Amino acid sequence: MPADNLASLLAAATARLKAAGSDTPTLDARLLLQAVAGLTREDLILGPDWPLMREQLAAFEGFVARRERHEPVSRILGEREFYGRVFMVTPATLDPRPDTETIIEAALAVMPKGASLLDLGTGTGAIAITLLAERPDATGMATDLSPEALAVAASNAARLGVGDRLTLLEGSWFAPVSGTFDIILSNPPYIPAGEIAGLAPDVRNFDPTLALSGGADGLGPYRVIASGAASHLGEGGHVLVEIGAGQADDVEAIFAAQGFQTAGRHHDLGGHTRCLGFNRT
Ligand SMILES: C[S@@+](CC[C@H](N)C(=O)[O-])C[C@H]1O[C@@H](n2cnc3c(N)ncnc32)[C@H](O)[C@@H]1O
Repeated sequence: MPADNLASLLAAATARLKAAGSDTPTLDARLLLQAVAGLTREDLILGPDWPLMREQLAAFEGFVARRERHEPVSRILGEREFYGRVFMVTPATLDPRPDTETIIEAALAVMPKGASLLDLGTGTGAIAITLLAERPDATGMATDLSPEALAVAASNAARLGVGDRLTLLEGSWFAPVSGTFDIILSNPPYIPAGEIAGLAPDVRNFDPTLALSGGADGLGPYRVIASGAASHLGEGGHVLVEIGAGQADDVEAIFAAQGFQTAGRHHDLGGHTRCLGFNRT
């Protein structure tokens, strides 16, 4: 990489990341450069002639090389913005996706005052923590099979000021849970196991398999969640689940078999059905 000014470093890194197949090479290069230089986007615009220090150049080269090997920017930087808040991300957690903001909007629309919520498979805690931060009168419980992910969720909850309203439990789906809730939410793993090898390397090589694989047909977790929701949903409560492409009909059938009716199909920014809402028939 030429040891030049910010503008030439940005241009060279953008060209490298484009050649490596990034869909967003300019954005990636800018975010990595801002991080190593401790600068804002405005700084980059105002000071294109500024040089970097030797250590910053080395760090930038390392970051660009990692991105060339398809590591997502959020994993390189160890953080991801979700619904306007910054979440720590580690190799043990799914990198929260913008599409998952669909379930947040759907939940906010039905959460009663003083709501109790349960987030199954919480990962970074993105769903539970965001809802508790948006609704200071709500309390929550969240589970995950991964103790490492739960430690990340605990750290995010504390930093974002909701740690005293969120109980984190290790175990499979409802196994460690007792009681009933106004809202049960989950973004479970929903990729059919046989399709994981064909996913983009940015996903396949960096998101934990535990966060991706939904078993042979991708629907295994929905069966467990639908079955457990029947006894953990309070009167007038709602279940909200994120789904993958083309899974809406199958997931609705799974919930219908447990006595739920579809209360809403919610679309992501790409227009795909991304979240289903259910209540009791
Ligand atoms: C698709 S990720 C979702 C993470 C987070 N809720 C989000 O939306 O960013 C699925 C999560 O489910 C967890 N998980 C997988 N199997 C589980 C199980 N049997 N019980 C509880 N959690 C599980 C994974 O560890 C992972 O954190």
